[in-house]
Amino acid sequence: MDLTVPRLRSLRGTLRLPGDKSISHRALLLGSLCDGNVSVRGFLPSLDTLATLECLRRLGVRIDRKGPDGLVVHGSGAHGMREPGDVLDARNSGTTTRLLAGILAGQPFFSVLTGDESLRGRPMRRIVEPLRSMGADIRGRDADSLAPLAIRGGRLQGIDYTVPLSSAQVKSCVLLAGLFAEGGTTVREPAPTRDHTERMLAYLGGAIQAAPEMTQIQPSLPLVARPLHIPGDISSAAFPLAATALLPGSRLSITGVGLNPTRTAFLDVLERMGTAVEAHGVKETSGEPVGRLTARHAELRAVQVGGADIPGLIDELPILAALATQAEGTTLIRDAAELRVKESDRLHALAVGLARMGAKVEERPDGLAITGPSLLRGARLETYGDHRIAMAFYVAGLVAKGRTVLADAECIDVSFPGFDRSMKAVGRG
Ligand code: S3P
Repeated sequence: MDLTVPRLRSLRGTLRLPGDKSISHRALLLGSLCDGNVSVRGFLPSLDTLATLECLRRLGVRIDRKGPDGLVVHGSGAHGMREPGDVLDARNSGTTTRLLAGILAGQPFFSVLTGDESLRGRPMRRIVEPLRSMGADIRGRDADSLAPLAIRGGRLQGIDYTVPLSSAQVKSCVLLAGLFAEGGTTVREPAPTRDHTERMLAYLGGAIQAAPEMTQIQPSLPLVARPLHIPGDISSAAFPLAATALLPGSRLSITGVGLNPTRTAFLDVLERMGTAVEAHGVKETSGEPVGRLTARHAELRAVQVGGADIPGLIDELPILAALATQAEGTTLIRDAAELRVKESDRLHALAVGLARMGAKVEERPDGLAITGPSLLRGARLETYGDHRIAMAFYVAGLVAKGRTVLADAECIDVSFPGFDRSMKAVGRG
């Protein structure tokens, strides 16, 4: 489906965003390991999270939808799942594949995890190796590096594992397998990544000890059923916040948004670029900080990001690249080769699309150099079926001269159903 970017001169008002994608996946997965019913509010009903929901149903977990963003997950503890009658389809979702694989490694049955073409091209050796060293029998295509993954789970032993790259999905996979293992499991990571799994495990009574860059877990199933309230997704908020910074006269509030410090690096980058986003009324809900953000238009300057900045910004790098086209100076994004193995090769997709709009952009093996400000012109753009590329180009299209059309824009529903509607709701033409 083609989507034409609307003409919006400024954004004004207040938005409430759909639930956090990472936390919604975890609510389903951890909820199914509880000792009873877990009621969930603020669930994100997107293509990715619904893939997790369908996989769990296929594993025999009962999940009832309650209205647009409510759920009841009927947890059945450590041994409630049964062998699925067919393959489990994670569709476009890396989080579904990698986190669910950790749980399946602990199940005494055979299962196969697969997904769409993009997912079947994404690296899986990063989870196959630690799960094997815990004792799981797990195989995949291309010498065990790609999905479909065939898993025969069973008895696992705890390990002390250092994740070679910073990945919350890999860390979470090993921690979830650790719930089923004999003895304790320790996961160390080179730089801190999002800690939603750790927070939710602690909230649901899991025996977990988290310190920066090192987490320990003891087998502690079943988890204790408690209600979960999921905040709005700060990675979705990044797009209207960026549009607010770019469009003169804009002032926007976003309420009920998750402000977990492992996810807020983009707000620090916006501040370094010259626009402070203020947080108000922060309180903790179901183990996660939540609050309201207020942003306004500003003239932007270039910024450099790399190293330990990257894990906290990983999903915001596409929108940062779009912002950089309007910032004074050369923005450098380094140490971000992981972007090449996301839902698309995001470095390439951004370089091609932004250049087509007239931006000065250089693609590097591990990042981008973007010199601004440049006058963008509207264009027809490939989104590569990648939700964050589509939304980043949408925001670039708002400041471009002429019409911007996004191909395959339905991919936006992977994380932010109603994105175009939300933008128009606060947009002034
Ligand atoms: C996620 C972790 C990140 C992120 C993805 C969601 C998660 O992936 O990019 O959108 O929910 O744990 P990696 O672990 O591959 O960095």
